[in-house]
Amino acid sequence: MQFEGFVKSLILKYLNNINMHTANSNKDFMLQEGLARFVREQTPVRAVFAKGTGAYGTFTVSNDLSAYTSATLFSKTGNSCKVFARFSSMPADKGSADAARAPKGFALKFYTENGNWDLTGSNFPVFFIKDSSKFPALIQAQGRSKKTNLYDKTAYWDFLCHNPETLHHLLMTMSGRGIPQNYRFMDGFSGNTYSFINAENEKFWVKFHLISQQGFKFFTDEEAAAIAGHDPDHAQKDLVTSIENGDFPKWKMYAQIMTDEQARECKWNPFDVTKVWLHEEFPLVEIGTLELNELPENYTQHVEKSAFSPSQLIDGIGLSPDSVLQARLFAYTDAQRYRLGNGFDQLEVNRCPFTGNGSLEDNFYDEKSEAVQSYEDEDDHFTQPGLFYTKALKTQEERDILTKNIVAHMSEISGEKRSDIINRQLCHFFRADVELGMKIAMGLNINIDMNMMSHAK
Ligand code: HEM
Repeated sequence: MQFEGFVKSLILKYLNNINMHTANSNKDFMLQEGLARFVREQTPVRAVFAKGTGAYGTFTVSNDLSAYTSATLFSKTGNSCKVFARFSSMPADKGSADAARAPKGFALKFYTENGNWDLTGSNFPVFFIKDSSKFPALIQAQGRSKKTNLYDKTAYWDFLCHNPETLHHLLMTMSGRGIPQNYRFMDGFSGNTYSFINAENEKFWVKFHLISQQGFKFFTDEEAAAIAGHDPDHAQKDLVTSIENGDFPKWKMYAQIMTDEQARECKWNPFDVTKVWLHEEFPLVEIGTLELNELPENYTQHVEKSAFSPSQLIDGIGLSPDSVLQARLFAYTDAQRYRLGNGFDQLEVNRCPFTGNGSLEDNFYDEKSEAVQSYEDEDDHFTQPGLFYTKALKTQEERDILTKNIVAHMSEISGEKRSDIINRQLCHFFRADVELGMKIAMGLNINIDMNMMSHAK
């Protein structure tokens, strides 16, 4: 019996030792795991729109759109769904100032019972380029120099002056409407043209607009510089505090809708993202209201790991022959596989709560190939920017702010290409509007060569 007792205690000791070892190595494991998670917590930043902030909310339909689309969400007034929104700043670094004069991202994920629908837009109704192959050069021109790691205004204007399709977006960026006071005070636009398909399989072309119910407010350059120095995260802070205080921001969503026949008769290519559809011809049709009312529990898990893509569609909403939209279809999921890894669509913020996942196979719209029509005014990069200067900007004061901002920016062009860049760019301004060109030329102390005037309208 004594021997048995001894063996038993030996066995127990042995087991305890094992347990102790297990406990010790478990501690080591926990330490390693904690450190490993810490060093891997940040995901690679987005290649564009790196700095952002996000919130959850609700979208409520106020107008039955079943005549245009079979999307269940839009089939009845009062229908609603959960939404995730991410606002961002375009080419800037993650640590840059929210008040920078740069396009702002306005990305929405609608968690609908037919799957997730992403609307990945911005605060301008147009985009810089219509030729997607120029996208990397466009982003490089606005980013830091590969050599000096400094922002380079000469490279920026060099790109613009060689690509007059950028003029419309440029005038919007440089105007008094270029720096929204914060995300609550800015509008959102799909930019690209999508399609609605109704239950009878009829198709309509559509552009989406989100109009801020807080108002449309902007900073001057001086105000923006002051706030950027004081608080580079001011727009993020504004969104967070307004939601924390129960002051939930709202946007009314509208659609501009065009029939196929109207598209064929359009003066400008309706699938060219550097152009707008005139509101007189294509008035806004109300869809519903977006309200943001909940902050995510964890910024990294929800905001950083959110993945939006123009290819994430639902039945009743489809694509269009818009060539920039076509290029965007694969660029986003490619970026997200790199940034977040395979299965990014299974992460909580990206997963569809109804279908169990947010994967594209679930709700990918089977698009029939569209015959792309050619438009007479395909290379008219000037008429709409001219209309922006003379009509969209309502007062002389607004026009003067635009020219002042452009002169201040262009004054920093330097180096041997300076006069070539300025002359090319002035030519684009003159072609849009003679007064616009003249004011910028005078601001830059350039004597106008009368040959240049022959291009002007
Ligand atoms: C050729 C054209 C374009 C290409 C190749 C492109 C590519 C990309 C890529 C790779 C990302 C990063 C995606 C990620 O890492 O999750 C991105 C983000 C984004 N893009 Fe584009 N883009 C294009 C045009 C546009 C246009 C026209 C708009 C607006 C109408 C736009 C709005 C956005 C927004 C808002 C984001 C950030 C989304 C977020 O908050 O996660 N992009 N783009």
